Amino acid sequence: MIKTLKSHFETPSHLVVSSGRKKLHFVFLANKCIHIYTKECPKDLFELDEAIETMLISITNGESMTLSLGDDVACIIDKNLVFRFLRNGKEFFAPLLQEESQSGKEGYSRIRIPIEENAKIYGLGDKMAQLNKKGYVYRSWNTDDPSHQDEQFMSLYKSINYLLLRDKGVFYGLYFPSTYRYEYDLGRFDSRHADIYAEKGFLDFYFFYGETPKSITSSYSRLIGYPYFIRMKMLGNQQSRWSYENEAMVKDVFKQYKKNRLPLDYIHMDIHYMDGYRDLTIDKTRFPNVKALSTELGKGDVELVAINDAGLKLDDQYELCATCQEKGWLAKNEDGSTYVGRVWPGDSVFPSYVNPECRAYFHQKAIEFVTENGISGIWNDMNEPFSFTGELPMNLDFSFGDRKLLHEEYHNVYGETMCRCYTDVFEGFNRRPYCFTRAAMATTPKYAFAWNGDNHSLWHHLVLSIPQILSCSMSNLMFDGVDIGGFGSDCTKELLIRWCEANILMPFFRNHSSLYTRSQEPYAFDQECTDIYREYLNLRYRFVPYLYDLARKMATRGETIVRPLFFNYPDDEKTYEINDEYMVGDDVLMAPILGQGQVARAVYLPRGVWIDYFTNERIEGGRFILKEMALDETGIYIRENSIIPEFHDLLHLNKKKITDIVFHLYGEEGTYELYEDDGNSLNYKKGEYNLYRACFKDGVFTLECKRNRYRSPYQRVIVIKDGCTYEAKMEAKVEVKLS
Ligand code: GLC
Repeated sequence: MIKTLKSHFETPSHLVVSSGRKKLHFVFLANKCIHIYTKECPKDLFELDEAIETMLISITNGESMTLSLGDDVACIIDKNLVFRFLRNGKEFFAPLLQEESQSGKEGYSRIRIPIEENAKIYGLGDKMAQLNKKGYVYRSWNTDDPSHQDEQFMSLYKSINYLLLRDKGVFYGLYFPSTYRYEYDLGRFDSRHADIYAEKGFLDFYFFYGETPKSITSSYSRLIGYPYFIRMKMLGNQQSRWSYENEAMVKDVFKQYKKNRLPLDYIHMDIHYMDGYRDLTIDKTRFPNVKALSTELGKGDVELVAINDAGLKLDDQYELCATCQEKGWLAKNEDGSTYVGRVWPGDSVFPSYVNPECRAYFHQKAIEFVTENGISGIWNDMNEPFSFTGELPMNLDFSFGDRKLLHEEYHNVYGETMCRCYTDVFEGFNRRPYCFTRAAMATTPKYAFAWNGDNHSLWHHLVLSIPQILSCSMSNLMFDGVDIGGFGSDCTKELLIRWCEANILMPFFRNHSSLYTRSQEPYAFDQECTDIYREYLNLRYRFVPYLYDLARKMATRGETIVRPLFFNYPDDEKTYEINDEYMVGDDVLMAPILGQGQVARAVYLPRGVWIDYFTNERIEGGRFILKEMALDETGIYIRENSIIPEFHDLLHLNKKKITDIVFHLYGEEGTYELYEDDGNSLNYKKGEYNLYRACFKDGVFTLECKRNRYRSPYQRVIVIKDGCTYEAKMEAKVEVKLS
């Protein structure tokens, strides 16, 4: 049979190309994204925003078909439906879509991507690895393994099917949407191929062909949903431990922090607060009155976060369990009986949170719980889902309504559906969400931010914290962090200090550690440790307005808060494998010490001039420098000709009480747009926010309020340049002469 290529548009943006009985679909979406599939996976368990692009695609037909996509990108499809993408006439992405029979792996289809030996493959969320994942094998299957973590670990808590590749001189992105398992062989067995295996034979992915890592990641984030807009307070320091076992211990943390003048915004309550590890209950012997505790702490601007586990204690006297049982919301074995696993409470059952009725029930119960107890944030755990009895059976039945749903399909999105019960529980208080999670998939950040689970107090895990958080960040988990000081094992004073320095501008900053480990609060070692930790917490609080602006851009444009150097310098190949430095926004570069006993390191500064944050030294970039750093020193470099907004002298982030806004000027000229709102409520959605334009040039600093819809508490503007401080009264337009 002679094959001929045919094509037609099903809708103006949905092109179907066929040859014989085979069909290939291209759906052209906003922001240089194309949805490509031959066999589509189900997408009803999560939400995508497939904004359609009205784009002009010119098609030339002949032996093969050419789609011209603008910006020098074209796609050529041959009569076997094999397609390849070209930029400026040069091929950069030519995947082979192989059905199960050709994939070499039973039950899986394969997307086979020829790559160059020196291709870089980034992404995949929380995998414990360096930024570039080429040469390794990974799996998307949410996994809790407390003994983790190293490159040999194929899966961790999160399954984020996003790859950012740099190959043949071009950056591009791929997102695989199925909730079923994926396996990635990123050039381990054959260094010239990246093979993506999709369970159940789906050949379905989104291709992003923007030009830079930043624009590719933003368009991916646009498709799967921007992360939610955080409260400003969430940028503050958070203290946790498994567990502060009773009220007295929580109060002691509060007191120690106060006594030591250490900034603090949240204290986390781990599982001991619960009555027999039952979710949304309180052990009244340990915590007789959480509401009163919360009120007392609240007077000192510190709030409480409570943990919540996925599995419920099996107990007919326990309302949540009894209701789920009665309504038929619990996971069932093949024979129809309720599945019983084991989590902290012992025998535990697993609700089908994806069921809208079940979700509404937990949502309501959580509202009652946070209201009665004055809880400000919800921490979702064990939601891979995990059971000590081993993997939940693949055929566990989570069906609801007419939707048949087995564990093998539900697993990776289980945690996300759990979070969806809790995202909006603070809406009634007109507060933004505080909901975070251990398990996640790509679409989760619009419901929950994340932390990266049970790391250890090991230097090696400090080293990996940077590429791990950066990989999460570029995979849309842009508000993320690890347990500062390490969760398992005993922390040392030096490790704690270096960890604090290294992660000090990471989006989520929480010191947390496991049961039976040595205390690792900032004051748990000696005075020197407390003093250094304080110095860095103070530094973090200074950067809050800058971080908050980035959080706003994260939520409105899908821009990362922290990112690898190559995001800002994509044409500088030296940045492609830098794992021990990170950028915070466009203007701040972090280069910490990550080794025991180490007191100096090489720092790569990309092109341009950089200013040492601590010494004000101007340094020409485009090279490595050697920098000595004593125990209380880290590397922070500010891009010349930039403005960093700052808060000074804060112990807590209560926006109403912040009367000074500081602008730190670096270099001879620069501009900055500052966003301001109440930092807490949902009023920004009604437009209640301010925008200011700061600028300095020719020895004059100006600040203009461009939009004034929120009653700002700012009274003073402070400007710092070259060690000199200037002050002015806050007005619609402020001008300061820099002598
Ligand atoms: C899990 C969490 C950890 C928590 C512990 C007890 O291991 O990852 O953060 O402290 O459970 O709740």
